[in-house]
Amino acid sequence: MNTVIGLIAGSLRKESFSKKIAKALVGMTPDGFEFKIISIENLPIYNQDFDDYQNVPESYLKFREEIRNIAGVIFITPEHNRSVPAALKNAIDVGSRPAGKSVWNGKPGAVFSNSPGNLSAFGANHHLRQSLVFLNIPVMQQPEVYLPHINKVWDEEGNLKDEDTKDFLQKAVDAYIEWFKKNK
Ligand SMILES: Cc1cc2nc3c(=O)[nH]c(=O)nc-3n(C[C@H](O)[C@H](O)[C@H](O)COP(=O)(O)O)c2cc1C
Repeated sequence: MNTVIGLIAGSLRKESFSKKIAKALVGMTPDGFEFKIISIENLPIYNQDFDDYQNVPESYLKFREEIRNIAGVIFITPEHNRSVPAALKNAIDVGSRPAGKSVWNGKPGAVFSNSPGNLSAFGANHHLRQSLVFLNIPVMQQPEVYLPHINKVWDEEGNLKDEDTKDFLQKAVDAYIEWFKKNK
């Protein structure tokens, strides 16, 4: 049976570059592994009352179960105002609760950040790492995966056409799989 690694794109936007990166990664796993795209859409903003008063939204239950069932996770994050987009931070919060029952615990992770600009969402990448340290997700340190000018690498159908970006992503995936094996 394949080891399943989750891919979480930190954007709700229909034409999101982060979602397109997730799709491009799906075919890049070596034998024995598979990538599963996990949606963060339809998760209401986290409110502890949901958990405290047994009123947990169906979408939370589904999301938490999906995360429980993956062995590792790659976050593909854009940047909002030099930090993690609220939708992605919310998904992380949803998975982290109730206290003591975080579904993230111990799953080897990686952060791939991207932007149409040239700073590659560096701020989001590192703010995200701060939360992941607390959640006990060992995060791949090298290679760092920063993807600038991400609006320029697609063909008309939204497929990844830029060969340098493809090669870089394949190297990042290969390094992540090694990281996963050492840290699972
Ligand atoms: C509220 C908001 C804040 C943004 N702030 C940044 C930013 O700090 N740095 C950056 O590089 N791009 C910023 N952008 C532009 C995003 O990089 C761009 O919209 C990108 O396409 C979002 O990722 P997505 O394609 O996965 O949806 C911002 C966009 C929005 C909507």
